[in-house]
Amino acid sequence: MMPSPDTFPVPLIHINETNSTNNYLQSLCSEQKVEELTVVVADFQTSGRGQRGNSWESDPGKNLLFSTVIFPEFLEARRQFLISQVISLAIKEELDTYTTDISIKWPNDIYWKEKKICGMLIENDLMGRNISQSIVGIGININQEAFHGAAPNPVSIYQITGKQYDIFEILKNIMLRIQSYYCQLKKDDTTSIVTRYTESLFRKDGMHRYKDADGEFLAQIVCVEPEGKLILEDEIQTKRGYMFKEVEYLLK
Ligand code: BTN
Repeated sequence: MMPSPDTFPVPLIHINETNSTNNYLQSLCSEQKVEELTVVVADFQTSGRGQRGNSWESDPGKNLLFSTVIFPEFLEARRQFLISQVISLAIKEELDTYTTDISIKWPNDIYWKEKKICGMLIENDLMGRNISQSIVGIGININQEAFHGAAPNPVSIYQITGKQYDIFEILKNIMLRIQSYYCQLKKDDTTSIVTRYTESLFRKDGMHRYKDADGEFLAQIVCVEPEGKLILEDEIQTKRGYMFKEVEYLLK
């Protein structure tokens, strides 16, 4: 059910249809002053955007498709990975209240077991060395019963639990969690953010299959460096470091 603006923790703009909530919020921010953590949520996107230029598909009204904006001028661009970490944690911890086996697949996909339940597209604007604006677009599969598109391994909470959910209630809870983590980030209280992110990682333990430009290999996760680089150690104890999109997780 659509919440009343009085009970929602941040300004909320609900639209039936747009090409992409990221585009909508980006345009709004370029036209007028927008309050931090304003949310744009849509029932349907005609050109939902994913990572790597992919599209993001969702049946109308079934899932959460939203974007929010922050103006983290205090944050140096070299620390921008902290934004991914706090948003991922907020979503992971909310989804933990519905089911077990939720993890964060580096850098910022949310997984249930070996399947993707949520993706995010974070678009940062820089001003000198710092971040002036960050549009955070999030798609979470909630009530969709079946997936028809090209995405390789989607899953919804409905498919996991057999129950249907009030998507605005989930959105409200997520925004409360984002608000709280963002306050923590503003205070530069980042130790527990980094620890929790590391503890929440998909494949945090054991040897698993990966693929890079040189081919497939077995490795275990060593750590994620502050700038977001994933460090793996392969079978002959060689450390390999990857930035986003440089390594693929081979799934079961
Ligand atoms: C991914 O490829 O994993 C990122 C998907 C991000 C999808 C969300 S849906 C709401 C927001 N608007 C968009 O166009 N994309 C993001």
